[in-house]
Amino acid sequence: MSTPEARWPLRRIVLVPLVLFVVVSGTAFTLAKLHLAKPAAGAAGPVTLGDAQRGQMIFKQTCGGCHGMNAEGKIGPRLAGAHLTVAQAKTQIDNGSGIMPGGLVSGSREADVLAYLAKIFAP
Ligand code: HEC
Repeated sequence: MSTPEARWPLRRIVLVPLVLFVVVSGTAFTLAKLHLAKPAAGAAGPVTLGDAQRGQMIFKQTCGGCHGMNAEGKIGPRLAGAHLTVAQAKTQIDNGSGIMPGGLVSGSREADVLAYLAKIFAP
């Protein structure tokens, strides 16, 4: 003999977790879809390129002393035809290494230099 009252606790055991599951996973899924917390552009994001011609001038002034006026290499390694990506170059410019100081150019000047480097690196 099972009255509706007797079946109610069982239904609660099944239904309450089911409803909770749907609500919680639905919320989580919606939030994931909305993607409210976007990762900051920069670290691994695409590198912004500026004006290559301006970049070449800045390169001659700021980098040419070590890398050569035409990036042919001097104290610093040759950059013309180098097998580097602009992302690698940006990391080197930002952080420096060896005798090359970091942060020689930043912001739009850095974007210009990177546009120039993108042109002279090996394809
Ligand atoms: C004081 C001299 C000096 C100046 C100024 C300098 N560099 Fe360098 N650069 C070096 C040296 C030396 C290295 C090699 C670093 C090492 O071996 O760790 C290097 C490495 C690099 C690399 C990595 C090359 C590779 O093959 O991995 C890039 C890219 C680079 N420099 C770009 C620049 C740019 C762009 C500028 C101007 C904003 C600049 N450098 C200014 C000396 C310099």
